[in-house]
Parts: sequence; structure tokens; C-alpha cells
Amino acid sequence: MRRLVIVSNRVPAVRDRKQPAGGLAVALRAAVRDHPCLWFGWSGQQIAGDCADRPLSVDTVGNVTYATIGLTHKEYNGFYQGYSNGILWPLCHYRAGLMNYSRHDLQIYNSVNTLFATRLAPLLEQDDVVWVHDYHLFPLGKALRDLKIKARIGFFLHIPFPPWSLMRSLPEAATLMRALRAYDVIGVQTEDDARNMNEAFAVLGIPAKARVFPIGIDPDSFATCAREGQNLPQLQHLQQDLRGKPLIIGVDRMDYSKGLPERLRGYATFLKRYPEYRGKVVYLQITPISRGSVPEYQSLRAELDKIVGHINGTYGQFDWTPVRYLTHPLPRELLAAFFQLSSAALVTPLRDGMNLVAKEYVAAQMPDNPGTLILSRFAGAAPDMEDALLVNPHDSDEIASALHKALSMSLSERLVRWERLRTDVWRVTAASWARSFIAALSEVRTA
Ligand code: F6P
Repeated sequence: MRRLVIVSNRVPAVRDRKQPAGGLAVALRAAVRDHPCLWFGWSGQQIAGDCADRPLSVDTVGNVTYATIGLTHKEYNGFYQGYSNGILWPLCHYRAGLMNYSRHDLQIYNSVNTLFATRLAPLLEQDDVVWVHDYHLFPLGKALRDLKIKARIGFFLHIPFPPWSLMRSLPEAATLMRALRAYDVIGVQTEDDARNMNEAFAVLGIPAKARVFPIGIDPDSFATCAREGQNLPQLQHLQQDLRGKPLIIGVDRMDYSKGLPERLRGYATFLKRYPEYRGKVVYLQITPISRGSVPEYQSLRAELDKIVGHINGTYGQFDWTPVRYLTHPLPRELLAAFFQLSSAALVTPLRDGMNLVAKEYVAAQMPDNPGTLILSRFAGAAPDMEDALLVNPHDSDEIASALHKALSMSLSERLVRWERLRTDVWRVTAASWARSFIAALSEVRTA
């Protein structure tokens, strides 16, 4: 079997390599199970100075060899924080107004892509299949081709791709699009993303084509987590604490794309419109801090603190807190067990590549009492999850009505909806996603 070379900015940290956490890492881990694999990327460390000769750290766990390099402070600021997460991220999530455009960051973004190519090229062997991931690395394929790498190279974009009318607000959009020609296969999450990217290729006269490869989770492993989580003392503690009150749950990285202020306003509207639920329901929002040095993420945190405080101050009682809000991550087993315990989940991003939390929520439920998924129409997962309660995340009244409907839904309706959702979650998995992408890449005839 050929060796698979995965390249992504984020590589599972050493402590997580046996059981990685986080969407992309978990999906890829399930995906690479069947291949000898080299996984190349950023070590997650910032190194001092302007290190021309920075060390490559190599570590093998099972069939995967991890090869990582550090980034200097300047690279971290310009490549990761600046261009990737301060410019491309908001733009691809249809939020051009949040871009902090800087040519200086662009230059560093390009130089880190060249650095990745230069350090990866000597590690490549004949017949390797190279799979590059996400917006941090749009130009990596071209940088590898410039070094005369002839291997098959594929690219998968995990986040949305906006219409060309929006994308072109990036001054170098055409150059980025042209760089994508270096890839043999270009994959995106949804039909909308493919339509948008192919429209851009057509407008620019670029002979390339994006194809849809929807990502999934490893549902068996998540269902096992939910079962194992049943014995955790924290679960029993929460269960006792609820004293029969239904639990509403939300789990998201702290990111403005997740629609958190809008969601909280939706919950406030729910408490206002349905006063019978005051004191009778618990909403647990788990929102680990992410990209905390990017200014927009800092202001989001301040905004969330304010809204949560306002809701708790307005509706709270001496023995009831309407929103329980955490900003630290919880272990997967515990999350899965909380999912199983809950009556409803709020997954309401304003825009999302796929959203694997929605699929994990379904995988964690049990047939005796499945919870209801409330899902944004703008998550990439929505077209295949129409048995969730689909909402427009901007509309707090619609969120309020969906919460009411979820909490009053009969067991038979919950079961019917869950069975259908479940079929899809078990049909499109992380493994099937990877298999179909790698098969497409293997079919390509190299020049
Ligand atoms: O899914 C998009 C993505 O940027 C992944 O590439 C990444 O693993 C995840 O979000 C978390 O983001 P970050 O690596 O910036 O913490």
C-alpha cells in the first residue's frame, strides 16, 4: 500500500497522539488507520528568533510518523494569527467586514507555505500520495510543484468557500485560485462550496474543478465514548443536580462563526416567551477559548461574558442559574455522556464548513430517549440532516420556537427523527470520507 502523506497546519499534540481531540485531527486519525502515514505540519510551538535551520521533530505512534516544525513569533503572528485566521477565516465564513487585511501578513503566509514545501520535499518518497488540508495551506501544492515534486497531491478545504463576488474582495484572490491548479484533486464539504469555487475558476478561466467530499465522524467510537462516559462521577453529579430538569447543551470553539451571541439571545427569547420554563430547564454552554490572541476573538469573549451575565441577571433565581457557561474544554467521554443526558442540543453556527458536533450529538444518543438536534441551516451538515430542527441562527424567535418544540416533542417523533439522522451519520463517516478522497487521488494519472 502507498504511503499517505498528510499535511495540515494543526497536528495532534504529542500527548493527544493516541487519542486526538479536535475536529480535523479526530477525522484524520480515523481516516489514516489503514495506511502507513507521514503527518507533517506545525508543532504548535513558537520558537525564538529567525531560525533558518529549525529542527524537525519526528515521532512515530503506530502506523503514523509525525514530523513537525516550530514557527517563529513573526510567522505565528503573520501566518497563523494574521493571514490565516484574521483574513482567510472571516472571508471564507462570509464575514469580509471582519478581515484585517495586511500585505505584510500575506508575505509571511506565502513564506511559511514555501518553508513547509522546502522541509517536506526531502521527506517524500516515490509513490507517496500527498493530501494537504485547509486554508492555511492553499499555495502549498504550487510550492511543492516549484520544487519539482511529481507526486499526486490533493487538497481538501474544511471550511466554507464563499461566492466569487465576496472572495474577490481579497486582493490576491485570483493568485490563490491559480495556485490551486497545482493540485490533482480539490475537495470541499458541500455542493454550495463546490458551486462557489467552480464559479471562481470559471470566471478566471482556470482549468480546475472542485468536487464534494463531505466529512463525517467515527460514530462507533463516539457512541462508545458516550457509553463509557456513563460511569464518570461528573456525569452522575450533573444528573443529580438537574433533578429531572431537561438539559440543553451547546459545545463550540469560541469563534464568531458559531453564532454564540445570537444563540444566547435565542435562549433569552425562549425564557421570555415561555415563562413556564424559567427555573425548570438548564442550559450548559461549553465554549473552549480558541485563537485567543486574535482581536475579534477577544471581543467575542467580552460580548459573551456580557450576554451570559445579562441573561443570568435578568432571569436567574437564588437557586437557579439559566446559563451555565464554561470556557475550558472537557474530556471527550464526558462530553459524549453529557450529550446523551441532554434533551436538546443547540448547534447554530452562522456559517460552518460541516460541523461535526451535530453528528457527534446524534451518535451519542440512545434509542430509549434520544435528544433533539437544533441545527443551523448554514452548517455544511444541514442538507443531510433535515430531520433535525433546522433554524436560521439570526432569528432568535425561531431558536426560541425550536427549543419549545424540542422540549415538548413526543418520544415517537424524537425516535423517528433520530433514526433517520443516525442512518446518515453512520453512512458518511470520517473513514468513508478519507477513502473516497484517497480513491479519487489514486485514480489521477500523473504527468
Ligand atoms: O476546521 C477548521 C480548523 O481551522 C482546523 O483546521 C483546525 O484544526 C480547527 O479549525 C481548530 O483551529 P485552530 O487550529 O486554529 O485551533
